[in-house]
Amino acid sequence: MNKSVIKEKSISLLKQMTLKEKIGQLYQATYFGAASTGPEFDNSDTLKYVHEGLAGSILGLSDNKVIYALQKEAVENSRLHIPLIFCNDIIHGCKTMFPVPLGMSSSWNPHLIEESCKVAAYESSHSGVHLTFSPMLDLVRDPRWGRVVESNGEDPYLSSEIAKAYVKGYQQGDVASENSIAACAKHFVGYGACVGGRDYDSVDMSETTLFNFYLPPYREAIKNDVKMVMSSFNTYNNVPVHGNKYLLRKVLRDKLKFKQVVVSDYAGVYELTNHKQARDARPAAKLSINAGVDIEMVSTCYLTHLESLVETNEVDVKTIDEAVLRILELKYEMGLFDNPYQKIYFNDSDYFLKDNALDVSRKMANESIILLENDGLLPLKKKQKVLYVGPFVDNKNVSGSWMGKGDNNQTLSIKEVLDNEKYQYYYLKGCDIKNNKYDLLDIPNDIDSIVYTVGEDSYDSGESKSKAHLKLPAIQDEVLNELLKLNKKIILICFAGRPLILTKYKKLFDEGKISGIIYCYWLGTMSGKAIVDTLYGKNNPSGKASMTFLRSVGQAPLYYNRLSTGRPHYENQNNDYRLRYIDEEVSPLYPFGYGKSYSCFSYDEVKTTKNILTKKDKITVSTYVTNDSNIGGKEIVELYIECLYSSLSRPLKELKGFKKIYLKPHEKKLVSFTLSCKDFAFYDQDKLTYESSEFKIYLGCNSDQNNYCLINFINK
Ligand code: GLC
Repeated sequence: MNKSVIKEKSISLLKQMTLKEKIGQLYQATYFGAASTGPEFDNSDTLKYVHEGLAGSILGLSDNKVIYALQKEAVENSRLHIPLIFCNDIIHGCKTMFPVPLGMSSSWNPHLIEESCKVAAYESSHSGVHLTFSPMLDLVRDPRWGRVVESNGEDPYLSSEIAKAYVKGYQQGDVASENSIAACAKHFVGYGACVGGRDYDSVDMSETTLFNFYLPPYREAIKNDVKMVMSSFNTYNNVPVHGNKYLLRKVLRDKLKFKQVVVSDYAGVYELTNHKQARDARPAAKLSINAGVDIEMVSTCYLTHLESLVETNEVDVKTIDEAVLRILELKYEMGLFDNPYQKIYFNDSDYFLKDNALDVSRKMANESIILLENDGLLPLKKKQKVLYVGPFVDNKNVSGSWMGKGDNNQTLSIKEVLDNEKYQYYYLKGCDIKNNKYDLLDIPNDIDSIVYTVGEDSYDSGESKSKAHLKLPAIQDEVLNELLKLNKKIILICFAGRPLILTKYKKLFDEGKISGIIYCYWLGTMSGKAIVDTLYGKNNPSGKASMTFLRSVGQAPLYYNRLSTGRPHYENQNNDYRLRYIDEEVSPLYPFGYGKSYSCFSYDEVKTTKNILTKKDKITVSTYVTNDSNIGGKEIVELYIECLYSSLSRPLKELKGFKKIYLKPHEKKLVSFTLSCKDFAFYDQDKLTYESSEFKIYLGCNSDQNNYCLINFINK
């Protein structure tokens, strides 16, 4: 149905609606004990709400029979038969679990992420989900924040490329089609910058930082027609986002040209009272609707107070009409008026965990694994006698938080894969994740090497899971100390939802006491298969850090694209009055963009077609990359710019391109990037700005390399 017909139908329907029914469309009910101001979800309550047209969408239902019953009540028994939108948090898979988003972002493979989202959309659109609250586009710089697990890392360019992949994968250009779902970009905006990494704490950033770092992924999602944006719990400029007209209207609508629906986060409207921006639910309703929140999730400030706010002229009915119109247009675009029972399947399990879904999940897991260290022991040989130790060998709980409809019982553990594929191995548990150490008894003396699995509990990251300490549980170190006494080669595999502190283990590697470190952000249903294939070389790891690994938690927040300073840090500096700690290094343990391979890649010098660039033309920057090994593998070639002088302090480096390439053994390939003036622009507050300057253009394997050429950008 084309946009003008949709608008026409929506306007005509709006004209038939009472004020109460309009306000009903602005309410998103849920299914468990809603926030203190929300109705308990039980059939009588919500069915009554739906019957009276007082709910426009429903959050988080899984039972397709209940979904059907509610939709039937809405379209057959309410006065205007307006269908409901059923929303869910499908953020890394529906039933087939994919790596958590921080894991998928470590693949630097937007195409594969898009394929993964298509699978998630397929399973969702055959199990009663119309819209998912994904992608999460919060830029993150602080691993203490539990929700880094849901993010795409610290870089605006990488996050933007991934945002596009999520939206295209879910929506597939047509949210009414049978295999697609609508996407919702969240949490707008700046939530990841909460002070101290404390979830829900305040955010303080300049407008220049907002425009240069936190908005680009939303700009990309909106450019790709994302259907909804969710406002965030935090403040911006001391104003809670749910009541922040500058952000939700001036920035989101006027600057980013977003024309679709804004939904609050869970009870975010009511929580303006906790922010002390509203004395109670009534002013909270007034603030939010006027600021630009269309749908109130779960809390019922709108339902309870908007009618009287209109009567007292504190809220213009036009404001409500605009919000309702956006919602009706979305419902028409999703085809819900034509086919309200679409996507509701009582046999939904017939669409889950299909072979192709599992295969995409396995490939995504393979490419999300980051090889941090390897002294050459990896890949292992199948005939080697390996002792597996640790709490994640015989453990299916490796999908992390926000598991949608996922079920850990569907996951193959490392141990199950080793058994299924007839590997010779020994297994000792060693310890649980946080406590209970088990004696390492009867260790066979003919073992060649040890694979020791460590990490945090999969429930220790996600919403409201901030941590002040990022080291591994002490019990895991105790077991490691015992294993070190065996003088066998040890491979550490670390499972987590955030970059933990690995300094101790890198030191052991540097001292030759351990032979390798593999890092896995929760890998999902195919975790065990991906890890065993990686250990034995069927998968050559290609993941790279999308978030910096710190040496100690005291360095947080630390990120590669921090600003230059008047007293920059230099290694081996002899002047104390430089950016530094007196008790820790400034540099990260592993920088953004870092990751190894079983192959060995080398880079030639960086060349450019010319070294003067104006606004009217483009330049091509290239280098040869060689695989100096006899193992074929994938390499992520990263392009950064460094501005040498500018009216504003600019980042030390800025990622402006990347390409993931495959190189056969000893193959050499030319890798080229074309740059134009937009790659050198920056925001001065909210103004996109071009300035003549000199730039270093780096091409290399991570953000810390020094392979560059010089170019001049002339702003004319
Ligand atoms: C939560 C989260 C948000 C999620 C929403 C609905 O509080 O902040 O990411 O989509 O509620 O479950």
